[in-house]
Amino acid sequence: MTFPFVIAIDGPAASGKGTMARRIAGEYGFVHLDTGLTYRAVAKALIDEALPLDDEKLAEEYARRVDLSTLDRDALSTHAVGEAASKVAVMPAVRRALVEKQREFSRTPPGAVLDGRDIGTVVCPQADVKLYVTASAEVRAARRTDEIVSRGGVADAAAILEDIRRRDERDMNRADSPLKPAPDAHLLDTSEMDIETAFRAAKAYVDEALAKRNGG
Ligand code: DC
Repeated sequence: MTFPFVIAIDGPAASGKGTMARRIAGEYGFVHLDTGLTYRAVAKALIDEALPLDDEKLAEEYARRVDLSTLDRDALSTHAVGEAASKVAVMPAVRRALVEKQREFSRTPPGAVLDGRDIGTVVCPQADVKLYVTASAEVRAARRTDEIVSRGGVADAAAILEDIRRRDERDMNRADSPLKPAPDAHLLDTSEMDIETAFRAAKAYVDEALAKRNGG
């Protein structure tokens, strides 16, 4: 039996890795998991029950209860939940519990796409393809600002840039599983690339790895 094909996509906040991961999964008929939602689910459960965000034992208990099949993107996408998620994401016990579930998901045949911060380095170090999607903080902030405005919202561009810088700092400098490209990841800097060009570049890497798997 051949093992399911695994694609690991990592990168900083607002880099476009989520959109890329969904598109790649659709293209190849693979399942997709946004692992950020798993950290958000732990944070939201604690917030909903008015529990502290700094009790590792408690957060671990909630991490063990996360059900990957019921993650509600809309409910988990608020700014407050994102902020709280970055606090529970520094806890090694929480990470261990969630990584176990993420690894199990990655074994779904015929293949899986996981996106996050530590997929290529920690969750699936044996992934068939590793992509590290990034863009400058300024470009990421501008894209997020445009996205909010296009949905009819009001965005404070300076505050968004500040927020992205703070998240980068927290994600890249934590002790457990910091955000960094795996040594064998393909870097996709989309600062000066549109989504179509980035997708085509990613697809070429996947096709190459699939051909290798199939003995080509
Ligand atoms: O990508 P996001 O904004 O949904 O992620 C929420 C938080 O979870 C963010 O602070 C980074 C963290 N995270 C992580 O530590 N490891 C992952 N694999 C995915 C997200």
